[in-house]
Amino acid sequence: MLVGLVPAGVLRKEGRAMNDLEMLEGAWLLVEDGRFAAYGQGEERPAADRVVDAAGRWLFPSFCDAHTHLVYAGSREQEFLDKINGLSYEEIAKRGGGILNSADRLHETSEEELYRQAMERVNEIIRMGTGCVEIKSGYGLTVEDELKMLRVIRRIKESSPIGVKATFLGAHAVGRAYRGRQAEYVDLVCREMIPAVAKEGLAEFVDVFCDEGFFTVEETAKILKAGQEHGLKPKIHANELAVSGGVQVGVEFEAQSVDHLERTTEVEIECLKGSKTMPTGLPGASLFLGMPYTECRKMIDAGLGVALASDYNPGSSPSGNMRMVMALGSIRMKLTPAESLNATTLNGAYAMGASAEYGSITEGKVANFFLTKPLPSLAFFPYAYQTPLIEEVWLRGEKFN
Ligand code: NIG
Ligand code: FE
Repeated sequence: MLVGLVPAGVLRKEGRAMNDLEMLEGAWLLVEDGRFAAYGQGEERPAADRVVDAAGRWLFPSFCDAHTHLVYAGSREQEFLDKINGLSYEEIAKRGGGILNSADRLHETSEEELYRQAMERVNEIIRMGTGCVEIKSGYGLTVEDELKMLRVIRRIKESSPIGVKATFLGAHAVGRAYRGRQAEYVDLVCREMIPAVAKEGLAEFVDVFCDEGFFTVEETAKILKAGQEHGLKPKIHANELAVSGGVQVGVEFEAQSVDHLERTTEVEIECLKGSKTMPTGLPGASLFLGMPYTECRKMIDAGLGVALASDYNPGSSPSGNMRMVMALGSIRMKLTPAESLNATTLNGAYAMGASAEYGSITEGKVANFFLTKPLPSLAFFPYAYQTPLIEEVWLRGEKFN
């Protein structure tokens, strides 16, 4: 069974169309030069140098994970224990832990070691079915360390067959040396970090953690503007901790996506209508921090497209398992299996500006896909969410071992 066939030119699915999922039984698929070249049904198929018999199995387009922070040093299970003992994510951050804790560790870690640790995570997510991933900086928080992170991301892009999109997130938290001097830190982001990132061509997107206790709407607008002047497109962290105004500023600046949105009202949904911005839910963070789940059901019913991503990071979502994200979309957000799959493939690709190349079985797109055991139905895939169903992963038309 071929799943996720989408005509060329369809870059995202919105509203009711999110429940459309084209499948083809008894199909063949032709891959040429690492890209999908053709597909069809029945015995008559084009000649090929190499034939792989996938009889009975299901072939899905690889997951597209539009929001991760998978370049980080070490781990933060001590804070996990603090949370078990009653501290909140915000309380840990206020004590100077959280993102600043990761920044301290990253500062002490060499670029080489950082790359090594990040590649373990990249290989882990590839094996779990991800074929394109967005990776953010944001644990540097100094000019040098932000560049160090982005160079690691560039190296991942050059050395791994997975698709990679890089995002500069200098405004993830105020760097330790600037605590109490937030305005000066914002200036540093705008005047030094962004020009340096752009000069080396290290990122395609600029992101800001626009939320209570982090960056204000005014600061966000300033940073997005500076980013725009250097050719960086916005992606936003918004409404995770409070209704922050981040969605509005994101839409105003034509952000590619606005992410988290655990706290969102009708006003934000209205604001997103008719925009190019993809609201992106991160159910792994809701699960891990015990937050409300983003109201993706309401958004789709209002006619919006939504994406779902992992938020893979050491503080709020230490997992990059997109199959689990898809399952949570159905289990906790009440998305149909088709909607959850579209949210983690085509719309995920859109949320990182990659849907012309990834996210569906479409002629000309990069041949990233996975094969599962035979399934009784599509619903079985998110339903049997822990059963190891993914058997083979292929990237750029080659089997990944
Ligand atoms: O998307 N919310 C902000 N940033 C990350 C968490 C970062 C961290 O805790 O290390 C997130 O959840
Ligand atoms: Fe995040």
